[in-house]
Amino acid sequence: MSTETTFAIIKPDAVEKNLAGAILAHIEKAGFVVRGAKRVHLSKKQAEGFYAEHRERGFFGELTTFMSRGPVYVLALEAPGAIAKWRETMGATDPAQAADGTIRKLFGASKGENATHGSDSPAAAAREISYFFGAFELI
Ligand code: RTP
Ligand code: MG
Repeated sequence: MSTETTFAIIKPDAVEKNLAGAILAHIEKAGFVVRGAKRVHLSKKQAEGFYAEHRERGFFGELTTFMSRGPVYVLALEAPGAIAKWRETMGATDPAQAADGTIRKLFGASKGENATHGSDSPAAAAREISYFFGAFELI
């Protein structure tokens, strides 16, 4: 499997509950190498730009208000097959549907407030990494 880099966010609900460290430990234990990391507080506009693909969805306003309500950690994660591996490590969007041992099952509160984000394709990973990181910030 080829080495890939995916993009992750530890969302405001998890950061508010002081779960960022536990989630990072889970990420490292799962075998990802953290190539980029920073703590940012998105504006509503930045959250809207990030989630632009969802702008027609009914939950877009709720999602972007949530994502801009407090600090998040943005991460670039490297591993063999990182994009699929990170989606699997997070679990299903709705924590109630997520498999045991996944991050969303362990740390997510609801379908909207589900602790983490993960890119869903190589094109999304490239776009999302470049939304937050410059080339010199990926080490
Ligand atoms: P993400 O993009 O954050 O990794 O999540 P995902 O692929 O599993 O789910 P997606 O369909 O892309 O939805 C993006 C985020 O929007 C919120 N959401 N709320 N209230 C709802 O019905 C609903 N559906 C989705 C979640 O925060 C979801 O992660
Ligand atoms: Mg998604």
